[in-house]
Amino acid sequence: MVQFKKKGLWSKLSILIGSHMPAGCSNMKNYSSSSYSLLPRKKHHHRVCSYAVAVFLVVSVVVICGEDFRNGFRRTLQRQDQWRRPPRLESLQHQTQKVLEVDPLPFAVVDETSKSTKDDCGIFNGKWVYDETTPPLYDEGECPYIQPQLTCQKHGRPDRGYQYWRWQPHHCSLPRFDAAFMLEQLRGKRMLFIGDSLNRGQFVSMVCLLQSKIPKASKSMETFDSLTVFTAKDYSATIEFYWAPFLVESNSDDAVVHRITDRIVRGNSIEKHAKHWKGADIFVFNTYLWWMTGKKMKILKGSFSDEKKEIVKMKTEDSYRMAMKSMIKWTEKHVDSRKKRIFFTSMSPSHSSSNEWGGEKDGNCYNQTTPIEEPSYWGSSSKTIMQVIGEEFGKAKLPIELINITQLSEYRKDAHTSIYKKQWNPLTPEQLANPKTYADCIHWCLPGLQDTWNQLLYSKLFFPYR
Ligand SMILES: *[C@@H]1O[C@H](CO)[C@@H](O)[C@H](O)[C@H]1NC(C)=O
Ligand SMILES: *[C@@H]1O[C@H](CO)[C@@H](O)[C@H](O)[C@H]1NC(C)=O
Repeated sequence: MVQFKKKGLWSKLSILIGSHMPAGCSNMKNYSSSSYSLLPRKKHHHRVCSYAVAVFLVVSVVVICGEDFRNGFRRTLQRQDQWRRPPRLESLQHQTQKVLEVDPLPFAVVDETSKSTKDDCGIFNGKWVYDETTPPLYDEGECPYIQPQLTCQKHGRPDRGYQYWRWQPHHCSLPRFDAAFMLEQLRGKRMLFIGDSLNRGQFVSMVCLLQSKIPKASKSMETFDSLTVFTAKDYSATIEFYWAPFLVESNSDDAVVHRITDRIVRGNSIEKHAKHWKGADIFVFNTYLWWMTGKKMKILKGSFSDEKKEIVKMKTEDSYRMAMKSMIKWTEKHVDSRKKRIFFTSMSPSHSSSNEWGGEKDGNCYNQTTPIEEPSYWGSSSKTIMQVIGEEFGKAKLPIELINITQLSEYRKDAHTSIYKKQWNPLTPEQLANPKTYADCIHWCLPGLQDTWNQLLYSKLFFPYR
């Protein structure tokens, strides 16, 4: 029995951010599992042993024969299927199978529109098109799960243009986001986002994209310390977010109190978090901004509970690489890539200085209402971190698929929450006189840019062969 200490919906979410980093829930010690009380009293001992032997025998038979039962069952189903299937469709599927060189990825839809597995139209290369004829996929007021740090309209944002820019890849079009279809595909599954507040934003966006199709009584959102769980009851499906801003263990892991200036990580230590990830079917990781302190990273050699801490300093890229290796090693050990998918969202860019795009002097994302049009534009996102990601994923023994949103988000200086969000501290007269001084140029309004990230994820997840 695992006892969770429940927190009210977003209540502990006094989260976030101040002017910088985000927040989440609280620490993990309440996760402790209480032991099972079975019946090992002396006088029952003999009987219990006999039962145990009998149960062991039955279980062994089931385990040994189970594979065969299941395979036999599957073969029967396939046979029935063939009987029912109209011949035209069958031959089409046959052709498709000839084109795919390898087993299709789990969750991938293989149909007559599928091309070869080698065919890749490059959905991350494209441009933003202003399109008022395509409304946003949901309305801000319609989705009750958006944190007050991201509800820009409610907090007075005067323009809405940022909701109408559509991502158009150069060589294909994104599939239409179909919430009913996705919910059906997620039946009985667990989709887990793991990372920092930007990944939390993507998680909330995904929930908003799906939730309108679910009646009120059939859905819930609950927070258990570092884990937030959206449940679609009729589908036995969950979409979850786990707070781990460095993925590996750190002194910023407390889901509520984590705004720590002196950040320390344990680069090789992921198990403390990862034990809560087992059994997920779709993983979506991110980590970036918390590493970018501008200083060397402090790496703890022992444990956080050691009285005398041994700390070494390491270059940002080297410590980031260490975390990537820990994550990859964990997935190689615990994730069966024949049944599950692993995604990683690349760095989310900030727009804290208008000098980067040649805007007015001393500006930032405040008062920006249009994207940057220069196709080669790249602001301050770290190219060396991107390189580390590419190198480490290239060496992984299982596919870790990159949702490469950095470039397309670099263009979107207009899509940040800026000053249109809940402020946790009262603003000073100086701040009010000069709003850009308290603009958040890191996080993104919802609905908005992060819905596009999820459309790209949707495309990769279900239609990787188009
Ligand atoms: C916002 O930008 C517009 C031009 O795009 C400018 O005319 C206006 O003065 C700016 N407002 C503030 C408060 O900076
Ligand atoms: C992500 O995309 C950018 C440009 O859009 C590219 O420069 C970068 O190499 C890509 N990252 C990886 C790891 O492939």
